[in-house]
Amino acid sequence: MSAHLRAVGTSPLSSCLLLLLLLLPLALSFRARPPHQHPGHLPSLVPHAPRSLARPRFSAQAQLDFTTHCNSSCYHRGEQEPRRELLADWLAFETLYDNGSRTLTTVDVEDGDEEESEGLIMDAVPRLARGRRSAPAIGRGKRRRRQIYGADGRFNIRGDNFLLDYPFSTAVRISTGCTGVLVSPRHVLTAAHCVHDGKDYVKGARKLRVGFLTPPSVNTTKPGQAPPKKPLVRWVRVRRTRVPKGWIQGPQDVSMDFDYALLELRWPHRRPFMRLSVAPSSEDLAGKRIHFSGFDSDRPGELVYRFCPVEDESNDLIYQHCDARPGASGSGVYGRVWDSDLERWERKVIGVFSGHQWLEIDGENRDFNVAVRLTPLKFAQICYWLHGNRVDCSKD
Ligand SMILES: *[C@@H]1O[C@H](CO)[C@@H](O)[C@H](O)[C@H]1NC(C)=O
Ligand SMILES: *[C@@H]1O[C@H](CO)[C@@H](O)[C@H](O)[C@H]1NC(C)=O
Ligand SMILES: *[C@@H]1O[C@H](CO)[C@@H](O)[C@H](O)[C@H]1NC(C)=O
Repeated sequence: MSAHLRAVGTSPLSSCLLLLLLLLPLALSFRARPPHQHPGHLPSLVPHAPRSLARPRFSAQAQLDFTTHCNSSCYHRGEQEPRRELLADWLAFETLYDNGSRTLTTVDVEDGDEEESEGLIMDAVPRLARGRRSAPAIGRGKRRRRQIYGADGRFNIRGDNFLLDYPFSTAVRISTGCTGVLVSPRHVLTAAHCVHDGKDYVKGARKLRVGFLTPPSVNTTKPGQAPPKKPLVRWVRVRRTRVPKGWIQGPQDVSMDFDYALLELRWPHRRPFMRLSVAPSSEDLAGKRIHFSGFDSDRPGELVYRFCPVEDESNDLIYQHCDARPGASGSGVYGRVWDSDLERWERKVIGVFSGHQWLEIDGENRDFNVAVRLTPLKFAQICYWLHGNRVDCSKD
């Protein structure tokens, strides 16, 4: 099995690490379940009838290298519960169809369970500001953005077994240059900035496609032709694209929180997909670790896998130092989450890789790679997009 997988550094250390990683799930399944689970009742979205909007102009350029800045007021805003009307505004969404037409759906937010709802909506407060972390402090005026931290900890995934095997097989390409993750037989979760710049849809969103890797040794070559060295990509058109209004109308510091979009394929893909989960606190992730595979722009044609511990989290964002380059935007960030029905640890998508954030707190600059967290409300919204009803979304 490991013969098919080539670690990029090819140093014995990185190969060992990867092997260890692949064996880790076994060890983890004997761990006890985590102590605090979020309750089963989730808030739900009550959508109103969609309203037609003018066709988008598709004038924006896809800007994959997405960076935001956040100072202490932006950061501490995450500690207060936003007003209910504001939440409903952010959770409204646009639907873009493949014929270029567009609708807006406004929503009401309904609590799953009154008593627990407050905790559900704001289930984690930022903890970063309390210090104690060894996150890099970079002086003012000496900003040097880093997307690779220390030795590059990414692995190229090669060989049919790995490319076609879960979980790597759930990573797909987005025709605008990003990555996405299969989250249902027909749906792909990605970053909103891959299709929309906050003001308009990007040019490539008019004919958006999702690319499935097909390893070269799968019999696709014509007789007499040498098989290509890199995996081939089979492209499928997107029928519907959903973008939360929190991304479209928000000022920039809010909108990173809403940097996700759901794409519906014209045809089911028939590959395994990864289920979504409300992001638990990082303490409840096996090893406190997140993982994602994507198409980093510095390694064209390769599927690149990495993992790292969560450094910190706010209600809406996961702060980490997983090595990543722009094409990895939109990757499904997953962790091993305790599944109380199956009574075991399962890989679940708990966020979307967004980009880079400068956090400036108390005059200190820290830089992080950032993933959007699936909060209970975002989960409820995406679940509604997946199922088209509220019934299937009442439980995680
Ligand atoms: C944080 O940035 C916003 C705009 O980006 C600004 O209005 C605000 O005053 C800043 N707050 C602090 C504490 O620097
Ligand atoms: C575009 O497709 C949507 C969904 O199929 C449909 O409701 C709408 O009427 C279509 N618009 C045009 C202009 O064909
Ligand atoms: C592809 O499959 C056909 C039969 O289905 C076989 O004749 C051919 O040799 C195969 N080609 C390669 C490159 O494996």
